[in-house]
Amino acid sequence: VDVSTDVFRAGSGDGLDNPVAIPSLRGVRFTGPYGHDGRIASLAEFSQGVVTTEFGGEPLDTRELSALVRYLQDLDFLPNEKLDEHNRLTGAAAEAAHRGEGIFNRSYPGFGGGSCATCHDPSSFFRDGKAHRMGTGDPPSPHAIEDGEETPTLLNTAETAPYFHDNRFATLGDVITWFDATYALHLSSTERDDLTAYVQAVGAVDRPKDDRPLARKLNQQFAYIALASDQDPRVRRAAIEEVLVSLAGEPAALHDRGDELRASLQALRVEVSKTAIEPRAARAMRDDLSRFAADWAGALRP
Ligand code: HEC
Repeated sequence: VDVSTDVFRAGSGDGLDNPVAIPSLRGVRFTGPYGHDGRIASLAEFSQGVVTTEFGGEPLDTRELSALVRYLQDLDFLPNEKLDEHNRLTGAAAEAAHRGEGIFNRSYPGFGGGSCATCHDPSSFFRDGKAHRMGTGDPPSPHAIEDGEETPTLLNTAETAPYFHDNRFATLGDVITWFDATYALHLSSTERDDLTAYVQAVGAVDRPKDDRPLARKLNQQFAYIALASDQDPRVRRAAIEEVLVSLAGEPAALHDRGDELRASLQALRVEVSKTAIEPRAARAMRDDLSRFAADWAGALRP
């Protein structure tokens, strides 16, 4: 989002096309200073600044501001079984990631004798709380305090692609390739892969096992059909596509009914590109799908 435009707030346009990525708020109490250039030390000051500057609103009173900050402080990093409490890799991480840990901690002339870990310090949530000129930002504007970019945490990156303050890289592998080339690290292709595996392991997020009963799982997916009567044609189409994705792989005995349902959904998809369907029709379709979900789960029961 480019927050320095008149669209965002009248009078704040700087005439530059300089959008910044929206950072994750997970673990935000550990990732100060704030702002992509790390200009503001406190979460309260930053939040107040967003309300008054970006939104051009009245300042929050002390009670509201402390409630908002308290809420932000509750947002935590997601668990990752590949890291122990000292942010070292555990046995759950792959062999390649363990080799990559050494490459991450090795010193390089390109980093002035430092390592990846100098900036992304594992004992400090893989960050150093400092801003660095990485040559990735816009040339400093005469009106701004432009000290480069703040080192981002490497935790939970599985959920935060694309990467860098301007979202320039789609994958962590692309980031590693950039560091290798820009800082002349002279990594072999195996080392790049291992380092990528390490950074992926650090950024991984444990997925809770989905042990909902099959019928409930299907039904909760099929519930999206209600959005076929939404006002926005893109929402209507996306909803039907979501249902079609879940409606696959039914047991052999139910193939014919599955095919029928898929055919009606495909016809519906064409229809909703033009017009929203009646909520009543969406409910009827939902009932058909629910019966199908129940039979599907029943057919698999021994
Ligand atoms: C001099 C400090 C410094 C060093 C050394 C460093 N980084 Fe970074 N790293 C940064 C900064 C600053 C950014 C943000 C750049 C931007 O947004 O333009 C960053 C971004 C990243 C990102 C993207 C994270 C995200 O969420 O966008 C990854 C991944 C990463 N670095 C991994 C590494 C690896 C691996 C190494 C070693 C090869 C390394 N870094 C060395 C400071 C450093």
